[in-house]
Amino acid sequence: MINKIKFTLNFEEVEIETSAVRRLLDVLRDDFKLQGVKEGCGEGECGACAVLMNGDIVHSCMVPIGQVEGKEIITIEGMQRTQKYSVLKESFEDAGAVQCGFCTPGMIIATEALLRKYPKPTDEQIREGISGNLCRCTGYNMIIDAVRIASQRGDGLW
Ligand code: FES
Ligand code: FES
Repeated sequence: MINKIKFTLNFEEVEIETSAVRRLLDVLRDDFKLQGVKEGCGEGECGACAVLMNGDIVHSCMVPIGQVEGKEIITIEGMQRTQKYSVLKESFEDAGAVQCGFCTPGMIIATEALLRKYPKPTDEQIREGISGNLCRCTGYNMIIDAVRIASQRGDGLW
């Protein structure tokens, strides 16, 4: 069955006609060509597909598009239009937290969600905030450093 679904995507109103059970991940990548949203595990375990839904991090591989009606979705492409993104990107680069880069969009989304909640997070809160996102390359210490640096540099942005 085909449904009309309206939502806000990267600060613009959008409407699509599609089956309500399709994954948000597929709609973003295939219909909207937002390739910064990655597919890793496809099972809600790795965070590569993370986006913000009404400001909270969600794994888009686990969200049927029918649940997105009326919501606000922000992907890494939307984040790239914000002033905060340059602080996040540079902090990740400076901390050596970007290696193969596969996890980076999801990590940046997780960091944004975390800093919205705790602008000055403790290391414990950072660990908790990125706990749904896997990185095969860095060990997590560099990512924790990156989040700490972003929180210091972005003073007042979150
Ligand atoms: S692809 Fe969605 S959590 Fe891994
Ligand atoms: S930088 Fe390669 S998976 Fe994280």
